[in-house]
Amino acid sequence: MDSLTRHTDYGNEGLSEVEAGPDPLDLLARWLSDAESAEIFEPNAMVISTVDADGSPSSRTVLLKGLDATGLRFVTNYLSRKGRALAEHNRVSLVFPWYGLKRQVIVSGVAVPTDAETSTSFFDRRPHGARLAAIASDQSEPIASRDILDERMAGLEQQYPEGSPIPRPEKWGAYHVTPDRFEFWAGRSKRFHDRIVFTRTSGAEEPATWSVSRLQP
Ligand SMILES: Cc1cc2nc3c(=O)[nH]c(=O)nc-3n(C[C@H](O)[C@H](O)[C@H](O)COP(=O)(O)O)c2cc1C
Repeated sequence: MDSLTRHTDYGNEGLSEVEAGPDPLDLLARWLSDAESAEIFEPNAMVISTVDADGSPSSRTVLLKGLDATGLRFVTNYLSRKGRALAEHNRVSLVFPWYGLKRQVIVSGVAVPTDAETSTSFFDRRPHGARLAAIASDQSEPIASRDILDERMAGLEQQYPEGSPIPRPEKWGAYHVTPDRFEFWAGRSKRFHDRIVFTRTSGAEEPATWSVSRLQP
C-alpha cells in the first residue's frame, strides 16, 4: 500500500483570479471541457451529497447532464434514497473530482425536480437499454437476486422492442440545481494550493451575480 505513504507533487498550474474570471458557471464549463480533452473517464461525473430526513448525510456519483447560466442538471430516480432525501432537504453539495488534472470543483445549491417535459427530453435521449433499465429498477430498493432484475429486463425487451416508443416512468426524471457557491481548487507544489470561491450575491434572481474570494489552502 505504497499509496498511503507516497507524497505526490501537484505541479504548479494553479488558478489565478484573472484566469478564474467573473462567472463560475463559465469557468466550470471551461474546466469540464479541459477534463473532456484530457480524456478523463466520465469527465461529467460528480459526487452529490444529500441529507436524509434524520440528518444523516449520504453521497454517490451521478452524471452532469445539463449546464447553462441558470445551473446544473442531473437525472435519477425520484424515489431512490437521494430522491427521498431531496424531498425533505433540497440542499446539495456536488464535487467534481478531477484528480488527473489536479483540480476539484465543489458546488453548493438547491436541487428541484424539473418540469415533466425536461425530464422526458432527457429520457428520450437515453439509449434503448438505459430507458428500459430506468423502468425496471426501483433504484435503492433491495431485491432478492440479480436474476429477478434480469427477468424484468427481458420482459421489458419483449414489451418494447428496439425502435418502439417507451414512455418515461414517473419515478424517473431530472433535477435542476441552482448554485449559490462554487469553490475551484487547483493543486500546487508543497501542498500550497489555490482555492477560489464564488458566492452568489443576487439571491434567487437571474442573472446571478457573484463575489469572488480566495481561501487559504
Ligand atoms: C460514474 C457513475 C455515474 C453514475 N451516474 C448516475 C446517474 O447519472 N444517475 C443515477 O441515478 N445514478 C448514477 N450512478 C449510480 C449512483 O452512484 C447510485 O448508486 C444510485 O444513484 C443510487 O444512489 P442512492 O441510493 O443514494 O439514491 C452513477 C454511478 C457512477 C459510479
